[in-house]
Amino acid sequence: MRIVLVGPPGAGKGTQAAFLAKNLSIPHISTGDLFRANISQGTELGKQAKAFMDAGNLVPDEVTIGMAKDRMAQPDAVNGFLLDGFPRNVSQAEALDASLKADDVQLDAVLDLEVPEDEVVKRIAGRRICRKDSSHVFHVTYSQPKVEGVCDVCGGELYQRDDDSEDTVRNRLEVYHTQTEPIIDYYRAQGLVVTISALGKVDEVTARAMDALKRDK
Ligand code: AP5
Ligand code: ZN
Repeated sequence: MRIVLVGPPGAGKGTQAAFLAKNLSIPHISTGDLFRANISQGTELGKQAKAFMDAGNLVPDEVTIGMAKDRMAQPDAVNGFLLDGFPRNVSQAEALDASLKADDVQLDAVLDLEVPEDEVVKRIAGRRICRKDSSHVFHVTYSQPKVEGVCDVCGGELYQRDDDSEDTVRNRLEVYHTQTEPIIDYYRAQGLVVTISALGKVDEVTARAMDALKRDK
């Protein structure tokens, strides 16, 4: 399956993607995680992305689209993938469409996670991620690690993301409404959008998402 996950910052895209990708046996491709890995490795791409991310703005398409396509061209993504955080504006969606068309394949669904703004603010404020791998995500009250400050998966140190400060989160929400939400209408016109509520426990949301994806088939 080829799925795009969309939803505001803090909706739980990364959290859900980890479970959905495992259930569906497809790789989880997060452009945010790819950027963070580049930043921690000190690559040129990471250097280019950091200032945009810290301000809560989108990294320019010239950088993002190439990185996403390179990742989708890896052997593990040949038969499907779950995209998290890409595309994030209409021009990225058009670039993705063109690239899928060139490979003679199509998206199966765009899963839209709906969460009220006060809840995403709470989720982001308490989020802690792993220094070794930013796809290992916890929350100080909703999803506590067994040992405070230590990642359950790999033992890495947990910390608060640089872009999770109040001002940056406000800008990320604004950027989501103005630049990313329009892709929902773009994909709705293609009949691909499945919207679910992302409120409730993590496993309840995963079950809801799996049901919605099956129904959509
Ligand atoms: P990115 O990393 O994609 O961030 P985001 O979209 O803002 O999403 P988040 O990672 O903040 O939230 P999430 O929905 O994954 O929530 P999570 O599962 O962590 O992008 C960061 C930046 O990179 C962008 O601002 C931009 O600069 C750049 N970028 C990335 N992609 C780009 C692109 N395509 N183009 C240009 N720039 C790009 O959950 C949040 C918290 O809630 C966690 O603590 C979790 O434990 C908790 N939680 C999750 N589910 C539940 C639940 N059901 N109940 C209670 N708590 C829950
Ligand atoms: Zn970890």
